[in-house]
Amino acid sequence: MSTKTQSPLPSLDEKPVYVRQMFAGTARRYDLMNRLMTFGQDQHWRRLVVEACRLPDRGRLLDVATGTADIALEALRLRPDVHVTGTDFTHEMMQIGQGKDPQGRIPFVEADALRLPFPAGSFDASCSGFLMRNVTDVAATFAEQRRVVRPGGRVVCLEITRPATPIWSDFFRLYFFQVVPRFTALLSSNKSAYSYLPASTLAFPRPPQLKTIMESIGLKNVTYRTLMLGTVALHVGEV
Ligand SMILES: C[S@@+](CC[C@H](N)C(=O)[O-])C[C@H]1O[C@@H](n2cnc3c(N)ncnc32)[C@H](O)[C@@H]1O
Repeated sequence: MSTKTQSPLPSLDEKPVYVRQMFAGTARRYDLMNRLMTFGQDQHWRRLVVEACRLPDRGRLLDVATGTADIALEALRLRPDVHVTGTDFTHEMMQIGQGKDPQGRIPFVEADALRLPFPAGSFDASCSGFLMRNVTDVAATFAEQRRVVRPGGRVVCLEITRPATPIWSDFFRLYFFQVVPRFTALLSSNKSAYSYLPASTLAFPRPPQLKTIMESIGLKNVTYRTLMLGTVALHVGEV
């Protein structure tokens, strides 16, 4: 009899298909899940992402892994003068986003974050929210964003992270391993999604390591701040 325990994380080969199917299956309830799991804080974080992009007048922003387009829409709410493009490899997520943009202000482009279909230097800034945990190669994903941003522009990353303080770290484990799976179970029919979220978060680099990864692909002046008791990190680098 085999004693091998099954990892809740897919192998690197399986990951893109697994991730796409998971988000396709949760697309309709994604926004509600976000609001509930973050106690309504997620929209505030998205505003910080847009501000961190420091877009010039009529600037061009790329929202990588736009999903249901909440960052892209927040950018247009704060800065109606800018041009925002959303890209993601899950059609079902972007369909929800398109429904939230009845005026069609955001071009939605179906693409893998590791192979962005845009020429070098096409944007003033590129941002991503809750993408990096899901990719097979974090450094290559940042490098691709660096490629499509003009010199002097910014690459901004928002992601869940493990808090460094022991008491919050314990609380984080309890919340992510006990509470979040129950929320997800109520709202999603995809059972493996319950364990993927906490497991992928634990496997993800802590903020100082993520900063080093960003620097390793040539981003400059990389800084970060943590939010919500150290459970969310906002990284900013310059091209
Ligand atoms: C947690 S959602 C975040 C959506 C949105 N950025 C937000 O702030 O709510 C993650 C998104 O990343 C997308 N994604 C994951 N891996 C990707 C990849 N390699 N290329 C493009 N999109 C990817 C998924 O399809 C999903 O829409």
